[in-house]
Parts: sequence; C-alpha cells; structure tokens
Amino acid sequence: MSATQIERRGPVAVISLVNPPVNGLGSAVRSGLEAAFNELLSDDAVTGIVIAGAGRMFSAGADIREFGKAPPPDVPNLPELIDWLEESSKPVVAAIHGVAAGGGLELALGCHYRIAAPKTRLGLPEVTLGILPGAGGTQRLPRVAGVEAALELIVSGRLVSEREALKLGIVDEIAHGDPVEAAVAKARALADAGTPPRRSSARDEGLAAARSNPGLFDEFRKGMAKRARGMNAPYACVRCIEAAVRLPFAEGRHFEREEFRRLVDATEAKAMRHAFFAEREVAKIPDVPDDTPTRPVETAGVIGCGTMGGGIAMVFANAGIPVTVVENDSAALEAGLAKIRANYQATVDKGRLAQDVMDRRMALITGATEFEAVAGVDFVVEAVFEEMPIKKQVFGILDRVCRPDAILATNTSTLDVDEIAGATGRPESVIGTHFFSPANVMRLLEVVRGANSSAGTIATTMGLSKTLGKVGVLVGVCDGFVGNRMLHQYLREAAFLVEEGALPQDVDRVIYEFGFPMGPFAMSDLAGNDVGWRIRRAKMADHPSNQRYSGTISDRLCERGRFGQKTGAGWYRYEQGRTPVPDPEVEALIAETSRELGIERRTISDQEILERCLYPLVNEGAKILEEGIALRAGDVDVVWIHGYGFPRHRGGPMFWADTVGLGTIAAAMRRFRDEHGEWMAPALLLEKLASENRGFKDL
Ligand code: 3HC
Ligand code: NAI
Repeated sequence: MSATQIERRGPVAVISLVNPPVNGLGSAVRSGLEAAFNELLSDDAVTGIVIAGAGRMFSAGADIREFGKAPPPDVPNLPELIDWLEESSKPVVAAIHGVAAGGGLELALGCHYRIAAPKTRLGLPEVTLGILPGAGGTQRLPRVAGVEAALELIVSGRLVSEREALKLGIVDEIAHGDPVEAAVAKARALADAGTPPRRSSARDEGLAAARSNPGLFDEFRKGMAKRARGMNAPYACVRCIEAAVRLPFAEGRHFEREEFRRLVDATEAKAMRHAFFAEREVAKIPDVPDDTPTRPVETAGVIGCGTMGGGIAMVFANAGIPVTVVENDSAALEAGLAKIRANYQATVDKGRLAQDVMDRRMALITGATEFEAVAGVDFVVEAVFEEMPIKKQVFGILDRVCRPDAILATNTSTLDVDEIAGATGRPESVIGTHFFSPANVMRLLEVVRGANSSAGTIATTMGLSKTLGKVGVLVGVCDGFVGNRMLHQYLREAAFLVEEGALPQDVDRVIYEFGFPMGPFAMSDLAGNDVGWRIRRAKMADHPSNQRYSGTISDRLCERGRFGQKTGAGWYRYEQGRTPVPDPEVEALIAETSRELGIERRTISDQEILERCLYPLVNEGAKILEEGIALRAGDVDVVWIHGYGFPRHRGGPMFWADTVGLGTIAAAMRRFRDEHGEWMAPALLLEKLASENRGFKDL
C-alpha cells in the first residue's frame, strides 16, 4: 500500500498520509507527497487540496528512525515539499486530528488554512530530540503565532491543545464533526471565492512586535539559561527564530536548515533519540509477548497512607481509578487523607489544578481501617513500614481477603520481593511496584519481577504503569533494584571525595554543571540525611570492618540535628527557603573528620570528581546488566533519566559511558581499585566490552 492516498471529493482532492502508527514523514511518504502534488497541482479539475492523516493522527513528524541515514536518491526533503505546497495557487487546507507534531505541524503550517478536531495536540517537540524544527517551523510559527509564543513553544517543545492552538492562531478553526469534511468544504469555499492563498511565510505581521523589541531574545536566553545548560539545541532554536525576524523568509529557512544539519548528527541529538526509543522499548519484554492476557484494573487498594501510600493513592485517583486506602487506625487514616487533601489543595492554590478536578479526585479516594475494604479490588499496592515481618503479615492478610485474581504489589525499596511473595499462596500474582518519592510527581516506576511473578501479572503491571502516566521499567530482585543500587555507588564516592579534600559545594557544582538538577549533597539535604543515617545504623553490624565506611561525616551532621532542608541545615545552611548556602561549620567538621581519619586533604580536580562519581555508577550498571537485573542498557538509562534526573541530553549513564569510551572507564576503574580498594574493581562486562572495543549499545 502506498504511503499516501488520494481521494477526490468533487473538485477537492484529499491527500491522506498513510504510514502507521504515527504517519512519520519518512522517505516513502515524502515520495508519495511529491507524486500527489505533481498530479494534483497540474490537474485543472482539482480546485483545492486537503491534507489529512489516516489512522490515529495527522502526523508525528519526520521519521526519527531515518535520522543519521542518507535518504534514498531522488526523494525530496520535507522543507522543499512544504515550500512547494505553500506556493500552490490552489487553496490547501490541513485537516488535523490526534497529533500534529514536528514536521507534521510544519506541513500543516505550509497549508493555507488549518482545521483541527477536538482532542488534538499540536507542537514542535524537536528540541526534546536535540534538534530544531528543520522544515520551516522556526520561520513560519513566529509569523503565525507571534515571536514570543513561538519562542516558548519551540524551546520547551510543549504540545498544546487545539483550543490553545486556536487562541494562538496556529489553527484557524475547530471542527465539530469530521475534520476532513470540514476541510473539504473550506477548500471548496476558498476556491469558489477566489481568495488568494494565505501563506504563513508571507505573514510578517507576527514579527512586528519583536522587531520593535530587539532585547527580547537576550532576555529569553537569560530566562532559559538554567534549564538549557550544557545543551545546544535550545539555543539554536532561539537563533533561528531570531533569524526569522532579521532575514527574509527564504534566507531564514536556509539559516534554519544549516543549524538543523549541525545538530542532527551531534551527540546531543543521538543521546536524546536514544532516550526517546529507550523509553518506548522498556515496554517490550522478551518472554512476555504483547498479546499476553492482562486483567483490567478498574479499582485499586493501597495499604498504608504515609509518605508513599498517600502519593500512590493520588496516582490512581489522578488516572480516574477509584482507590481504597487502608491504614492501621483511624488517626493514621485521617492524617494520611488530610495530607493528600493538602497536597491537592497546594496545587489548586498555585493555579495548576481546578477545584472541581481536585474534588472529583478526592471523591475517588476512600479510607478504611479494615483490610476487608480491599476484598474486591483488582490491584493492591502495599506501602507500609519497611520491615519484613510487617510486610509478610500484611501479604498474608491480603492473600486471605483479596479476590483470587487480584494482583498484590509491594512498594518495598530494599526488601526481597520473593520472600514477601512467599507469605502468600499466590506468588505468581505478587510483584514489586517501586514508586519514587513524591510518587504523584516522579515518572519512574521500577516494576520488580519476582521469581514467580506470572507473565500476566507482569503485563498487567506494565500496562497499568502507562495508564498511571508512569514510565515502568522491569527490573529483577536485588538490593536496591537498579536505581538505588547504582545510586549507592555514586553517593559513596561523593562522600569519600569530601573526606579526601573536596567540599560538598565542589562536588555539587560539577554534577550540576554536568546537567543533573542538583548534586548529591543538595539532594541528600532535600531527601533528609536522617533517612540514610537510620539505614546505616540498622546495617552497621553488616559493614565489613576492612572496608572503608562512607557515612562518617553524614553521621556527624545527623548527630548535630542537621537533617537537611527540613531542619534548616544539613550539608548546607538554608536561610532563605531552599537555596543551599555553604556553611563554615560544615567545612570545619569535614576538615576535622579528615584529620581524625588520617587523610591528608588534597586538591581534587573537577574531572576527578566527575569520574569518581559517575564511573562507579556506570560500573554498577554493568554488573546489573551482567546479572540480568535490567533487560537492556537503555532500561538502565530510562531509570536514571526519570528517577534521578540524569541529563537526558547525555542519554543516561550507559549511553554516556559509550560516548566516553568503555576502554577509558575500565582503565579508570582499575586505577581506582588500585588506589582505593577492591570495591572499585571493574565489572566483568565492562572489561569484556572494553577489550572488544564495543559499547553497551552493542549488547
Ligand atoms: N518517527 C519514528 N517513529 C516514531 C515517531 C517518529 N516521529 N513518533 C513515534 N514513533 C514510533 C514510536 O517509537 C513507537 O514505536 P514502537 O511501537 O515500535 O515502540 C510508535 O511510533 C508509537 O509511538 P508512541 O508509543 O510514542 O505513541 P503515543 O500515542 O504514546 O504518542 C506521539 C504519540 C505523541 C506522537 C509520540 O509518539 C511522539 O511524541 N512522537 C515524537 C514526536 C516528535 O518528536 N516529532 C518530531 C520529529 S523530528 C522532526 O519532525 C524534524 C523536522 O522538524 C524536520
Ligand atoms: P511511612 O512511614 O511514611 O508510611 C507507612 C505507613 O504505613 C504509615 O502511615 C503506617 O501507619 C502505615 N502502616 C504500617 N503498618 C500498617 C499495617 N499493618 N496496615 C496498614 N497500614 C500500616 O513510610 P513510607 O516512606 O511511605 O514508606 C512506605 C514503603 O515505601 C516502604 O516499604 C518504603 O521502603 C517504601 N519506599 C519509600 C520511599 C520514600 O522515599 N519514602 C521511596 C520508595 C519506596
């Protein structure tokens, strides 16, 4: 079947893009468009043209899979096709439904009139792939929607609803019936009226405001500096929009094309493409085929309404799933529900949630103090205290009261899911759902597969994660699963660096400049240093006496009540809200501790900080892959991008490691092992790949 189809409706011809699932504008579609334009533009019987998408959407833009590959000869490029279309003297109307993203919206902007169906999302998300709209989007959007709106949309990559698009002038009309029919009628009316085509490229009125405000771009760059640090694409987007204001359309388009070419093959774009595909690949599990029967999750239960349980209940309610929360007693239940209400209220007060939506969500949450209240639900998440005897007791009860086909999930962060499953007579229906805090905000969900979790249980839970708006990544049972197990390596080395000579603010600066939202010490202060302190004290007896202990300074901070932001002091002082201020008292404590440990403090370079923090993290990722705890290197990257803020433009730790070179990392790990100790020994997989001159991407 051809990638485009033509249907004649009287004098109007409808060209449909037919390239499921998203009508990517790959070479077959572009050839199809070229043939269609040749045929229709020269056919006098055709007075108007409509462009529409077959299937789920108009078009998600260029076919990302074709990036980095030379196009077949004689296939026109998208910008040329769009220019050609726009030049047509016959009216061309876009009938948009579902999604018009990237090149898809650029194609629509080349049309003379745009009609969108309800529930359509439109935007230019190229920046999220490390590139820019390269088919005229940076030139046409500012002309159509104004420079300020174009800057915001193109640099954020945000998709807007058809209603917002209408307000911004990106679409001209919302269709209430069939958008194609409406577009055909419009094309016919325009042709009959003989109205000259309204070309986006000629609509200079959108540029006027910016021409009289030349400081606009510098101002915008200042505002985006924090978010865009370390990246090229957002700045290139701004330069192109600036060019739209400064240059005639054709020159601006040329400028855009050059900038696009520079970005598309750079590491930043490769990293972001990798992240895009890795996020979709996580859903594919080799031994759980797509057609595995799942059970519908229409009702849920959450056991424990503390920090995590409350957030998880909100996650279900936000997805429209009624949820029953069970607490120990009515006081704990009331406190938990009040916390949920306060959380929603804070969002309403900030204007980010409508009051009636909050009310509807609250109405979906029911409290109970008896487990019988979850007897009929489809899916239960346990989030009680992190103690094995309590978890086992809870699962014993759930097994007794819940319907036989219900799935029982635990939110444990450190305990053995198999041991918990062993407390039930249905280990095949038990699984881990490791949400990250705050559960209603963080997108990552580690789905922990137990030894006996059935394919149906896994498929249902992975499907549910999507329904809940989470990125579910399947992981195996081990201490810390994927994310926290790697985090441990990173935090430990950060602590050692401080004992050896760096200051918390040095480490945090290097990590922040690398692209994380914050460094390890600011993060610990945010999470609460007492959390790790309690865990360390509980595990102290297990700490091998011959192994270096990384908690000395943190313990001392906690002994002084410096738990972090919540106590106004931790690794930093917090005088005004959440801004960390380096504290001489902490520096003195660090110097004293180094002395007591017999460590002569030295100057530590930024490069050493980066390597010591990140290479052991990558090394642990290699062990995780070796052991099969994660299915693919890309899965580990997704965990780190969504759970820990690893900069997306670096592709995640494993992708980044490939860009550094595994030989370099393995050699550094050997050196670290010799200098510091066996815990730094390179993983076998890392050594193997390095010796074969391969990367994690080749696995
Ligand atoms: N190219 C190639 N494949 C694409 C694609 C694209 N532009 N967009 C989506 N896909 C693939 C996905 O990888 C997935 O494949 P799989 O089934 O094998 O895993 C399949 O299409 C379905 O995608 P989703 O699972 O993401 O479907 P959703 O319905 O959840 O989301 C969407 C739809 C919002 C359109 C989302 O797919 C999306 O955001 N796509 C990317 C949009 C984008 O960034 N476009 C810009 C492309 S670059 C460009 O146009 C350059 C131009 O300026 C020159
Ligand atoms: P929490 O202490 O805030 O909440 C636990 C709640 O469970 C309390 O409200 C308690 O009253 C209730 N509870 C205890 N026993 C119960 C029982 N038998 N029946 C009903 N309710 C009971 O703890 P938090 O932080 O919410 O942790 C819960 C689980 O989530 C733990 O397993 C923890 O390891 C895990 N987790 C915690 C994260 C965090 O950042 N806090 C992150 C990811 C997982």
